[in-house]
Amino acid sequence: MQDNAKHKQSSLNQKAQAWSGRFNEPVAALVKQYTASVGFDKRLAEVDIAGSIAHARMLGAQGIISSDDVIKIEQGLAEILAEIQAGTFEWLLDLEDVHLNIEKRLTDKIGDAGKRLHTGRSRNDQVATDTRLWLRATTDNVLESIQDLQISVLDLAETHAETIMPGFTHLQVAQPITFGHHLMAYFEMLKRDAERFADARRRINKLPLGAAALAGTSYPIIREMVAQNLGFDGVCENSLDAVSDRDFAIEFTAAASVLMMHLSRFSEELILWSSPRFAFIDIADRFCTGSSIMPQKKNPDVPELVRGKTGRVYGHLMGLLTLMKGQPLAYNKDNQEDKEPLFDTADTLLITLKIYADMLRGITVNKANMRQAALEGYATATDLADYLVKKGMAFRDAHEVVALAVKHGVQKGCDLADLSLADLQQFSPMISEDVYQVLTLEGSLASRDHIGGTAPAQVKQAISRARKLVG
Ligand code: ARG
Repeated sequence: MQDNAKHKQSSLNQKAQAWSGRFNEPVAALVKQYTASVGFDKRLAEVDIAGSIAHARMLGAQGIISSDDVIKIEQGLAEILAEIQAGTFEWLLDLEDVHLNIEKRLTDKIGDAGKRLHTGRSRNDQVATDTRLWLRATTDNVLESIQDLQISVLDLAETHAETIMPGFTHLQVAQPITFGHHLMAYFEMLKRDAERFADARRRINKLPLGAAALAGTSYPIIREMVAQNLGFDGVCENSLDAVSDRDFAIEFTAAASVLMMHLSRFSEELILWSSPRFAFIDIADRFCTGSSIMPQKKNPDVPELVRGKTGRVYGHLMGLLTLMKGQPLAYNKDNQEDKEPLFDTADTLLITLKIYADMLRGITVNKANMRQAALEGYATATDLADYLVKKGMAFRDAHEVVALAVKHGVQKGCDLADLSLADLQQFSPMISEDVYQVLTLEGSLASRDHIGGTAPAQVKQAISRARKLVG
């Protein structure tokens, strides 16, 4: 009896947990540590407060709590926000998560009004709302950062709309292109990335609040009022789905994975091009590091890390998909595990986009080396075949004639353009003096003069169309 009384006392002292009334013993220390999320979800504090204010205003407007309570709640939350921003707010592991930490502080400040804030709400719809609010703002940052990167791609492409380089297939010299054209391929990828994030944002921007624990609430709430107040485009239309859906987090991470995949491809090219074997480009020293043992080294660490961090973002996507796999409706504590991968995806993506835009601004091009490489791989062989076709030869025959001419060039150790007319005519009498126009790099480029082609005039038009998109 005495023991019991004692226990009750200690459980009262322990009444840090908002839900502890039902329990006969305090939660084990290790379990507290295991289940608490405040260490990472405190990042949601600002949106949690915004969500609470919108909820309280609606409760007040509907007469569910008094307007006096609403005023106190708003004032208390404003003070708490200031404490959090000043770094003086004390986060307690005992209070489990961001929501209960803020609610407890509010109640300490304003008493009973604070206890009424959670009327008609559950942490289940609260956390889903917070995460969506946070992700919406983050998506907007991502969209802005993509645009900045697109602008730096465009600036470099514009400078090099006429800079000739070899285009590759199978990493073998294929046909001449301009460096600007090559860069514009990445602009297109980024354009699709921006579309994907903008599309994901439409589904992120729906309000879960009002779903309460899972089934809705018996109070006369108006969810649309809260949605409008918080800038949501509408409400999640099924309460069970509202608290359990994490598709929005998966979609964001999937879009981030595709974007990182694009940047890892770009990085691989920057790494190759900056290696002394290619020596096409130079990456500014401030984006590279040296070797502690080999004094001659200048390593492209930034693109290498972008390539490496791509794996980490893919990992988060797989983690989130697996987190949701087989979860029964509605909310399960598993869902708390969505935050760290989501936060890390966003952090990794945002810093990568920023550093990439800066790094491209520090790239210089060795035009002579690029041009020389384009001259060395029989890059205009297709142009010679096309020339013969235009003179009446069937393409397959032309292909064969040019293959023999290339073989001859290889034996002589020179390019097609270096073979004499007499030499070339051995392979076909259709070849005449005008062939040299198509065998030059400039002639080859200029002839690909249609939308999407590498003719410098087309590249410039593509750049000016792209400029309009990124305003
Ligand atoms: N910290 C929790 C999370 O991030 C909040 C929701 C908890 N809900 C619950 N019924 N335990 O998911």
